[in-house]
Amino acid sequence: MFKFHKDRLQTKQKLGSGKFASVFPYQKDTQDFKWVVKRIRADDADALLSSLPEIVLGFFCDHPCMVPVKGYFIEKDSNNESFNIYMKLPRMKETLLNNLKDRKRDKNPYSEQEIIRYFYSLVCGVQYLHSNKIYHGDLKHDNLLIDNTGSLKIADVGIAKHVEEEDSYQTLTGEVGTYQYSAPEIVGADRKDHKKDVLAKADVWSMGVVILELCSLDFRLLNSSLPRDQLQARVNERLASLEGKFDSSLILLIKKMLNLDQKERLDVEVIINEIENHYSEMLDRDFLILNPSYQAQVLKEYEHQIEMLKKQIQEASEKSEVEKRQLTEQISQIKIEISQQKQQNEDQIAAF
Ligand SMILES: Nc1ncnc2c1ncn2[C@@H]1O[C@H](COP(=O)(O)OP(=O)(O)O)[C@@H](O)[C@H]1O
Ligand SMILES: [Mg+2]
Repeated sequence: MFKFHKDRLQTKQKLGSGKFASVFPYQKDTQDFKWVVKRIRADDADALLSSLPEIVLGFFCDHPCMVPVKGYFIEKDSNNESFNIYMKLPRMKETLLNNLKDRKRDKNPYSEQEIIRYFYSLVCGVQYLHSNKIYHGDLKHDNLLIDNTGSLKIADVGIAKHVEEEDSYQTLTGEVGTYQYSAPEIVGADRKDHKKDVLAKADVWSMGVVILELCSLDFRLLNSSLPRDQLQARVNERLASLEGKFDSSLILLIKKMLNLDQKERLDVEVIINEIENHYSEMLDRDFLILNPSYQAQVLKEYEHQIEMLKKQIQEASEKSEVEKRQLTEQISQIKIEISQQKQQNEDQIAAF
């Protein structure tokens, strides 16, 4: 169970930040580099509710290509209606964006093997998400982290969606990732509510942009809000500039991921097969032995826990001030239950 020590939070050494979140080192002493804490401020119970998927998804997503949430703590501000959410995460060395910027500055392009390895980790993490009906929605270099061994891990499930029902439409208002990485059908004039197969293909577009940019040793190359013909011309131009530098099957694969027509765009399973067929000698596949029954378990627990948390928070916000103050304790209790269930999952896997 995560016991949060506020004095370990190094708020003077911010490692990164986004719209509502800041990430700080979390350390016992100056030699302790294992953890960070992501702090999200929620102005009221509604904002807290909308942050819950990030906590619970991060907590249950357990895959070598993802940054796991190892614990969390929710603090109610006694003076007003706001909350602070603290999520404990393993500390990563850098973002893929910083890595790319350094390489660009040093004019030190990635080798094909380096690209294929990042690509494979990225697509395996996304396959894990999609097979659990989770769609990331914000894949880009600043949400992809590199650990000390040089492995890529997907972070920031802040706008990820878990879509259980086959046909339900997901409203994306205000939750779209940046237009340089989002698929054209998600931004601009075509933007509307989407079914989950569209969300899956949108993640594929974003991965295509990430890999295109690694190959090009540059970033922010596309703009999905451009008219289609201009965007298509940009994509063609960028792909053409890779010819002769990279294997033609890699360029073709990126091209099929950057198909403007999302129906024609590849899905993750096909991409994984292509990489495995063409580049098996470049891959390190030891980490890919996953237990399929565990994936189902993750999903079941997620649904259950998120419902419980939502109910508790809604009840607490509707009731009296005194009861509102009990919110933190109620959530702590659920937190213990989540930890226990997760431990049970792990025991089952160990026994498997
Ligand atoms: N586990 C981590 N280790 C080191 N730095 C991190 C970690 N997680 C996030 N960061 C840094 O903080 C930034 C913001 O984190 P992120 O989870 O993407 O939050 P946001 O939802 O605000 O975008 C990242 O781009 C990265 O620079
Ligand atoms: Mg982010």
